[in-house]
Amino acid sequence: MPMPVRRPLVVHLLGIAAAALIALACPASRGQSSALASTPPMGWNSWNHFAEKVTDADVRAAADAMVASGMKDAGYVYVNIDDGWEGDRDAQGNIKANSKFPDMKALSDYVHSKGLKLGIYSSPGPKTCGGYEGSYGHEAQDANTYAEWGVDYLKYDLCSYMSIMKLHDPSQNPQQANAMMKAAYQKMHSALVNTHRPILYSLCQYGVGSVWEWGPAVGANTWRTTDDIRDSYRSMALIGFSQAGLEKFAGPGHWNDPDMLEIGNGGMNADQYRTQMSLWAMLAAPLLAGNDLSKMDETTKSILMNKEVIAVDQDKLGFQGRRIGPPQIWVKSLSGGAKAIAIFNYVTDDEAEPLTLQLKDVGFTGSVHARDLWAHKDLGVLRGSYTVTVPQGGVVMLRMWP
Ligand code: GLA
Repeated sequence: MPMPVRRPLVVHLLGIAAAALIALACPASRGQSSALASTPPMGWNSWNHFAEKVTDADVRAAADAMVASGMKDAGYVYVNIDDGWEGDRDAQGNIKANSKFPDMKALSDYVHSKGLKLGIYSSPGPKTCGGYEGSYGHEAQDANTYAEWGVDYLKYDLCSYMSIMKLHDPSQNPQQANAMMKAAYQKMHSALVNTHRPILYSLCQYGVGSVWEWGPAVGANTWRTTDDIRDSYRSMALIGFSQAGLEKFAGPGHWNDPDMLEIGNGGMNADQYRTQMSLWAMLAAPLLAGNDLSKMDETTKSILMNKEVIAVDQDKLGFQGRRIGPPQIWVKSLSGGAKAIAIFNYVTDDEAEPLTLQLKDVGFTGSVHARDLWAHKDLGVLRGSYTVTVPQGGVVMLRMWP
């Protein structure tokens, strides 16, 4: 039975606005690094397309397509099973997969045989968001099972743990609730560490309690900053553009996660999907495709596998870009003194008009070299400003260097 656990987006947007103020006041320390997720994780997750229907065959097909399509060569590596794989526990309390996943170890071996990595999903609560078995009271046992199966990535989703927080604290004192939540996330982190298998740790608790401030302290490599994304321009734009201000909290080993990609799922047009890919790259966000990889058209492939845009996301300095608008102009510092600039036209109902970028606004006073990362075209040397017409809901993304 699905257990609806939904949070109003506006709460998260307010939280993010508050975080922006905090970030201005006290920049987080950089340089906390980790061999896991030294750049934002890239891969695929079953949820956005398959939801609870996902099967062993779907996951194998995703792994096959990740290799055959060229996605693996473009940097995608994790094949992540989201909610819907869990069965019951045996008499000793060991978690079993349900009948859609007959042999998790064999599936993991298959994914690894392709040079890819396997991800799995659970909750600190007794039940997941889909109402399946969670890890509450079985944290160490579940971590050991994942390690035995050969799991490389865990998405740990708060879900029904919220009811535990309420049960222990009927007055819902936010500080006490946050302390319980941190302890629950820390507990699974310790369990993962004790397996001695490197398992990327991905927190999913929708940004509650300003997770970006304490995620690294509980071992998180990534943490969701908002409620669930939907395959619509409105949902994607609300989430993506609301990340402004969180840049101080991201860096190698620990990343803000504005949720998975919807590219190729059909609810947005190509310009809008290019906006998601560009914005997520500017945000140094995890790039987890959420479509059916075995049925991709050429446009979807060209968006998910734009290596020049991926290089912006994966830049080894690990800076998250920041907004310098209005309008929606974002800049991200890259290695070697280069910068990525994304100019978005986020209004969808007006005629697109020429927009002028002043180069000094993105930190270039002299002349700069520029390249258009979607047109795959060198623009030569620019001086002073750059004027361009950006399609409605679309983006022009540039790389500039002195
Ligand atoms: C929550 C998460 C989603 C997905 C579902 C699965 O809503 O935020 O990303 O994992 O649970 O039930």
